[in-house]
Amino acid sequence: MIIRAADNGYLHPRSSEITTQSAYLGRREWLHRLALGAGGAALTGWAARDAMAAVRPGKLAALAGAPSTLPGASTGEKISAYEHASTYNNFYEFGTDKSDPAARAKSLKTNPWTVSVEGLVNKPRTYGLEELLKLAPMEERIYRLRCVEGWSMVIPWVGYSLAALIRAVQPLGSAKYVEFVTQADPQAMPGLRSSVLLWPYVEGLRLDEATHPLTLLAFGMYGEVLPNQNGAPVRLVVPWKYGFKSGKSLVKIRFTDKEPRTAWNIAAPQEYGFYSNVNPDVAHPRWSQATERRIGEEGGLLAKRRKTLMFNGYEPHVGQLYAGMDLRKSF
Ligand code: MTE
Repeated sequence: MIIRAADNGYLHPRSSEITTQSAYLGRREWLHRLALGAGGAALTGWAARDAMAAVRPGKLAALAGAPSTLPGASTGEKISAYEHASTYNNFYEFGTDKSDPAARAKSLKTNPWTVSVEGLVNKPRTYGLEELLKLAPMEERIYRLRCVEGWSMVIPWVGYSLAALIRAVQPLGSAKYVEFVTQADPQAMPGLRSSVLLWPYVEGLRLDEATHPLTLLAFGMYGEVLPNQNGAPVRLVVPWKYGFKSGKSLVKIRFTDKEPRTAWNIAAPQEYGFYSNVNPDVAHPRWSQATERRIGEEGGLLAKRRKTLMFNGYEPHVGQLYAGMDLRKSF
């Protein structure tokens, strides 16, 4: 982000790599039946196996979520191919090239894993991953992901509202912000040798943003546990903000009364503000944010760019959080 021009497109996906939505939906249906205990009985046989094979052979453990009924939690847009979502990544702890995380993140040890929830709360606590997985029912949410660099994807995540965890720890009245600290393990993460960012990667939200039901604590995607390069074993997904607000591989969640300093804001405060809501009307100092390239669309870099939507299309659900604010100043 800081060292590259916007979206210079390292990947030119072939159309043959693109998963059709119907193939993926076939597999989702199958996973949901498993989740509901039907054992996939109605879909055994070649139909189910074909649907699975059309996506790719399952490599990671299945993690199913019931389709979310939350308003805004599902877009009808074509889902991006798993192969793109899991190979075109930003995870600077593993390097700054889009292909580095998929190539290098195998070294990340995700078991055992704990997340310490602390600061201005009544019930601070260190959660083991197993406990977190059971804290609330898993849902599948199909969100647009818009990177500040000018590209986007549509990803089916599995997780639950961060609000469930926030309720469990009972924030004090003085808590106004939430800081998210992510893993920084020099043994596993070669990118930490670079000073491109101050490590660990830290992000933050206002408490009301963190509590908004669309803010997702994600453990899986495409019906499976998260691949390491996408932020295993647990990450945040805030769909109306630029992707960098969604910290990967979380280890600490801290409630504070002051706006947290965030990794990108420290690196380049004039370019990456605390809010970083997707906003087509507020340009990045070095490029416009009015349009975006949907990864995997026919034509690669020559494909027609789409218009970027205010709050990434989630304005009806989150616009009221920013009523009365000057979004040019609070960018
Ligand atoms: N989290 C950590 N810890 N380190 C990172 O470099 N990159 C961010 C965000 N979370 C990043 C991170 C950026 S810039 C984006 S666009 C999204 O992760 C990308 O998520 P994805 O690779 O799952 O699509």
